[in-house]
Amino acid sequence: MKVLVTGGAGYIGSHMVKLLGEKGYQVLVVDNLSTGKREAVLYGRLVVLDLLLYAPLEELMLDFRPDIVMHFAAKILVHESVRKPLEYYENNLQATWNLLRAMKRAGVKYMIFSSSAAVYGTPSSLPVKESDPTVPINPYGWSKLMGERMVEDFARAEGLKFGILRYFNVAGADPELKLGPVKQNPTHLIARAVKVAKGDIPYLEVYGTDYPTPDGTCVRDYIHVTDLCNAHLRVLEYLLEGGQSDVFNVGYGKGYSVLEVIRVVKEVTGRDFEVRYTERREGDPPELVADPAKLVTLTGWKPSFDDLSFIVKTLWEWELILEKHDS
Ligand code: UFG
Repeated sequence: MKVLVTGGAGYIGSHMVKLLGEKGYQVLVVDNLSTGKREAVLYGRLVVLDLLLYAPLEELMLDFRPDIVMHFAAKILVHESVRKPLEYYENNLQATWNLLRAMKRAGVKYMIFSSSAAVYGTPSSLPVKESDPTVPINPYGWSKLMGERMVEDFARAEGLKFGILRYFNVAGADPELKLGPVKQNPTHLIARAVKVAKGDIPYLEVYGTDYPTPDGTCVRDYIHVTDLCNAHLRVLEYLLEGGQSDVFNVGYGKGYSVLEVIRVVKEVTGRDFEVRYTERREGDPPELVADPAKLVTLTGWKPSFDDLSFIVKTLWEWELILEKHDS
């Protein structure tokens, strides 16, 4: 089967392309390389294209005629979205709109859409279920919620089958160490803490210590990137076997605070580093933990790397490989 993967040169997309390639899917990656890297595409063909350019996108879609579209390309930083909302609405909505138009022209039947736990805003109860209220508290979350709606409405009208995956906090690197995060200066907690441990960044800031959580720092559900990508495969297979279009949380159902993450990073890397306690960051909810029961029950998804130390270890080993490569 043919899969068109947008954002396939990025962190999550590239791990997905590796899995799809290993499973024998024929892959076409579309990526504008704004954060993605050419060398992260291990299978298939890469076309460097911005989804905001409709005509070449349509041409590509009609030429490749994918059975499935997986849409990873997006801007994903909560705090940045608060400062640059229009960039988020343009990149995450206009691009999705173009993609759907082109998919309609080519008659694509299946889609997996990358959404986010950010659609829940500050959940009223935890762990959060797909049926819980969705009231985002930042433009990023709104852009994903609106994207979900666009996909759902389009699917109803056009007969598309979709899986919407609401990611919790994705981290770690390919356990075979062929891939890892693509950014030099990451802002995500675990990736950044590992860079600090390595000495590339002088200290780690903790954004806020007065949250209503057990130790005052934010709690997140960190999931290994390969487990997340496996969830995509499971959902896809579920749809191909006749399962209904649906929305799925993808997380482990377990939360760690920022301080707990720092402790594990110091332990796994064996390096101590400076931590500075600063103000809260804009747009951050105190606690986000998934209830993944629907994904587990309907698709049979089982996590393989549900272990924060392992997640950190894969990232650390990836960093050490990069270091060797650079020297
Ligand atoms: N944090 C720090 N210091 C840092 C980086 C992060 O204290 O240097 C804190 C943040 O304030 C937050 C937590 O660590 O409380 C996690 O922050 P990340 O930046 O790693 O991730 P976010 O939770 O902000 O967002 C990520 C993705 C979103 C996704 C969300 C889902 O970027 O796309 O997870 O939970 F929606």
